[in-house]
Amino acid sequence: MKFSTVIISSVIFFAGALARPSSLAERIAIREGRKSGVAIFNTNSGNTNVTHSATSTNWAGVIIQSPPSGSHFTSAVGTFIVPTPSGNGAASAWVGIDGDTAQNSIFQSGVDFTVSKGQVSYSAWYEWYAAFAVDVPSFQVSAGDQIRITLTTTTSTHGTVLLENLSTSQSFTKDVSAPNSSSALQGKNAEWIVEDFEENGQMVTLTNWGTLTFTDGSAGTNTGSSVAPSTGTIVNMEQDGRVLTSVSTSGSNVTIQHK
Ligand SMILES: *[C@@H]1O[C@H](CO)[C@@H](O)[C@H](O)[C@H]1NC(C)=O
Ligand SMILES: *[C@@H]1O[C@H](CO)[C@@H](O)[C@H](O)[C@H]1NC(C)=O
Ligand SMILES: *[C@@H]1O[C@H](CO)[C@@H](O)[C@H](O)[C@H]1NC(C)=O
Ligand SMILES: *[C@@H]1O[C@H](CO)[C@@H](O)[C@H](O)[C@H]1NC(C)=O
Repeated sequence: MKFSTVIISSVIFFAGALARPSSLAERIAIREGRKSGVAIFNTNSGNTNVTHSATSTNWAGVIIQSPPSGSHFTSAVGTFIVPTPSGNGAASAWVGIDGDTAQNSIFQSGVDFTVSKGQVSYSAWYEWYAAFAVDVPSFQVSAGDQIRITLTTTTSTHGTVLLENLSTSQSFTKDVSAPNSSSALQGKNAEWIVEDFEENGQMVTLTNWGTLTFTDGSAGTNTGSSVAPSTGTIVNMEQDGRVLTSVSTSGSNVTIQHK
């Protein structure tokens, strides 16, 4: 039921549990370099599979920063095994379209993992930024579940999210619309990310998720091309001068290790 979903999201937000960024300004403000204008890309000559690497305060993973010439991304897919996090805090694994070089919108879906007083909990969600994320309480996620996330767009302001439990045949699908035309997608980016997300305007304390691997990742275009994550830019999370992650990519895989 839509109403109960909305109410649950609001309640959780005010309880300060699993709220998502509330405005574009907030999300941009915490993406290192993007707002300050400092160059975030350094040539990573040691890695022959990527052209650039970057660090970010809140994202770790891979971003494909542009689709093949003359096309735009219309889908993004990724599969991962839900980790068992350790250490109080939270993080979120998600697949998305836009949000880097196209900064007015992100269509994304993922799973938050939270450790609070030793208790681990999970929450599946989808979001068409700049609207809030919508939690999906009917899709109960547990450690060890193999979850596939598929985002497809039909227009710049309409898309479908599909969450599948590959351990069973359970799935959730939902048509999603951009909150308004200013959140229309450009299809410039696709990404596979673990995020230190925001709660009430503040980044959550980061939990340790160990190692999370997105497998069978791909981004599709309106012209029928399929692009592998390994062609994208590796982004490591760096906070207070410490690089917290070790990200690698190979073919359709993206491995994001919390160091
Ligand atoms: C680059 O890709 C090739 C082929 O997938 C793989 O064998 C190699 O280990 C990768 N190297 C790095 C640095 O990721
Ligand atoms: C578009 O929707 C977002 C999220 O609901 C909102 O923050 C923003 O102000 C809206 N923009 C316009 C132009 O209505
Ligand atoms: C996925 O399947 C596993 C194994 O059957 C089950 O324990 C879990 O609850 C399922 N999760 C979802 C989100 O369907
Ligand atoms: C991707 O990861 C899977 C699962 O770990 C592995 O079987 C496969 O060989 C990997 N593929 C590449 C191209 O590294």
